[in-house]
Amino acid sequence: MPGMDDRASRLHVAARMASIAPFEVMEIQTLARRLEAGGRDVIHLEIGEPDFTTPAPVVAAAKRALDETPMFYTSALGIPALREAISRFYGERYGLAVPAERIVVTAGSSAALLLAFGVLLDAGDEVLLADPGYPCNRHFVHALGGVPRLVPVGERSRYQITADLAAAAWTPRTRIAMAASPSNPTGTMVAPDEIARLATLARERGGTLLVDEIYHGLTYGFDARSALESGDDVFVINSFSKYFQMTGWRLGWLVAPAAYVREVEKLAQNLYISASTLAQHAALAAFSPESIAILEARRGELAARRDFLLPALEALGFRIPVKPEGAFYIYADCSRLAADSFAFAREVLERAGVAITPGKDFGIHQPERHIRIAYTQPVARLEEAVLRLGAFLAERT
Ligand SMILES: Cc1ncc(COP(=O)(O)O)c(C=O)c1O
Repeated sequence: MPGMDDRASRLHVAARMASIAPFEVMEIQTLARRLEAGGRDVIHLEIGEPDFTTPAPVVAAAKRALDETPMFYTSALGIPALREAISRFYGERYGLAVPAERIVVTAGSSAALLLAFGVLLDAGDEVLLADPGYPCNRHFVHALGGVPRLVPVGERSRYQITADLAAAAWTPRTRIAMAASPSNPTGTMVAPDEIARLATLARERGGTLLVDEIYHGLTYGFDARSALESGDDVFVINSFSKYFQMTGWRLGWLVAPAAYVREVEKLAQNLYISASTLAQHAALAAFSPESIAILEARRGELAARRDFLLPALEALGFRIPVKPEGAFYIYADCSRLAADSFAFAREVLERAGVAITPGKDFGIHQPERHIRIAYTQPVARLEEAVLRLGAFLAERT
């Protein structure tokens, strides 16, 4: 009888798995849960989802759909009514005509990213990604045999990729330049004219611009413009997760150039058949005036949280050289306070009971100098977090 060790030694894990890193934030979260199990109060500012629940009209629509609609698979492109509703949303919010035929409903924008990379990348093709940036992108690219090329970005370019940076990093193997606006982890945006320049660059070099607009709707004081205005050849992803506050429903969408939609459809059919039928029917109610009123009020609340936290963190000694315009993140330089942001995040958790994410999750460009703070808690909890951080920092000096 082979023992457990023999069986384990026969495990064969694909080589690509060596390039797929876990989220460091999970380590912080595990530690936080352990402290909580021991009776400590932890303020969670590490998690990338707001504390708001799904708007009631969406939940009601889901309940009705369970009673009235058979929960069969849908088309891999999504139910026509939802594709039409998203198309109308582009008209109403952005003044853009985006035909429903170009909109593919997906299992979260995670699936949209996988589909976009899947139809565009050959093995060895390069994707330009801002560093710091959303970590899953580079892992998706790796998983598909592509090569993520991390472009270091800092305060000079508002922590964003620009056409000049992309042009300098472009090689004959570059297939995609990607931007996320607003960005995770920095909350900063790419100006519309810069997006237009990126689209032109990609076009001239025979590549594609892919823009992640998942944090649209969560911009404070203004509405974002979509990269879709920069040409019909741009790929855009978006989601019901963030603005619509439906993270766990796993629903998003991809807007692809018309000529690619059939390829996207084939890949979606094979990868996961279709997005959740229940979530799709529920999401139809996300665009109702009642839902939008709820979402806009919450957007105001997030703006108030940002406006409280930014100056409070600066007063504590964090450096935030570029004001985040959207999402619910502040990417702060903590180098005046600590030499290693990972050790700092652990110390802050253990001693102050505040969970934050170390820069390590978001790339290799100066991660030790940065932390990400998610303002996904009410202002009263943020005030408490600032008090605790202040006391902790005062004690250390
Ligand atoms: C920048 C960015 N893109 C994509 C995603 C994926 O989100 P989902 O699959 O829930 O749409 C996230 C999630 O945090 C994100 O921050």
